[in-house]
Amino acid sequence: MEQISDIDSTTDTSRISISAHYTGYIWYNNGLSHAQFVTPMGRAAYWALKPMNAFMQVMVGASIDTFLLQRHYVLDHLVEQAIADGYEQVVELAAGLSSRGYLVKKAHPHVHYVEGDLPGMSARKAELLDKLGRSAGHVTQPCNILDEDGPLSIEALLSGLDNTKKTLIITEGLVNYFDLATIRKVWSRMALAMKQFPKARYVTEVYPQLEQHPSYKYVKVAQKVVGFFTQGEYPLHYNSNESMQQGFLEDGFAQVSVTAPEDYYQTLDMPTSSRPSLVRLVVADC
Ligand SMILES: C[S@@+](CC[C@H](N)C(=O)[O-])C[C@H]1O[C@@H](n2cnc3c(N)ncnc32)[C@H](O)[C@@H]1O
Repeated sequence: MEQISDIDSTTDTSRISISAHYTGYIWYNNGLSHAQFVTPMGRAAYWALKPMNAFMQVMVGASIDTFLLQRHYVLDHLVEQAIADGYEQVVELAAGLSSRGYLVKKAHPHVHYVEGDLPGMSARKAELLDKLGRSAGHVTQPCNILDEDGPLSIEALLSGLDNTKKTLIITEGLVNYFDLATIRKVWSRMALAMKQFPKARYVTEVYPQLEQHPSYKYVKVAQKVVGFFTQGEYPLHYNSNESMQQGFLEDGFAQVSVTAPEDYYQTLDMPTSSRPSLVRLVVADC
């Protein structure tokens, strides 16, 4: 197993929060979100990236937005599947301006839904949800995944839940903002903390380092654009489904499946791409 290094002294990653405005707009623009979650910044970023998206469509066979939508559709499906399997508590970390929590609560009022994000984004989301009329059992809670203890930690968030209920954690658009050593440390802590529940599952997307992919050089361009907008790196993790699965097992999860959007083309009505996809979906059970 790779050496897990200490996390950088600063755990303030709020520079990343701008990306939530962009994805929030993409979900809305494609009928997957409520207008309440649209911000002027999200709209402006959409127009600023339009030429880049057109370029990717021609060169890669799918735009950045297609890859975002694919992950979003599959993650929605995985959440629905877990709820059908009796998961009654859902924790969405780094929920940003996504309306998944709002929509899940509308469809499944019995589910307890907690949206965690950095304090600034969490306060903003709380305000937006309150304006929409928040239902009981829909909680917004400040959380910093890098905090190993204290009130903002994942551990503190989970300790406030009912530990007799099956619990699902989801992250979307988060893990590739961190280097692998840092995010693996988070995953290991998460796997340990999840053991307090009778059953617990984590679902996420991961963008892998597929050097052999026919569009890899364009992926590097997209990676630079995301890094530029968020003033940091956007490292890709693992170079095969097998190594990704093995990594999650080593981080403390008992059962792990890694799939690609193509695996859902027959069952989900979602945008497809003409070339192999660039994102993977991970379902990790404790
Ligand atoms: C690309 S956005 C994704 C938002 C949402 N999940 C979506 O897909 O639309 C990344 C999110 O990660 C949050 N974030 C960044 N650093 C974080 C941290 N250390 N702990 C928790 N959330 C963090 C940002 O505030 C932002 O909302």
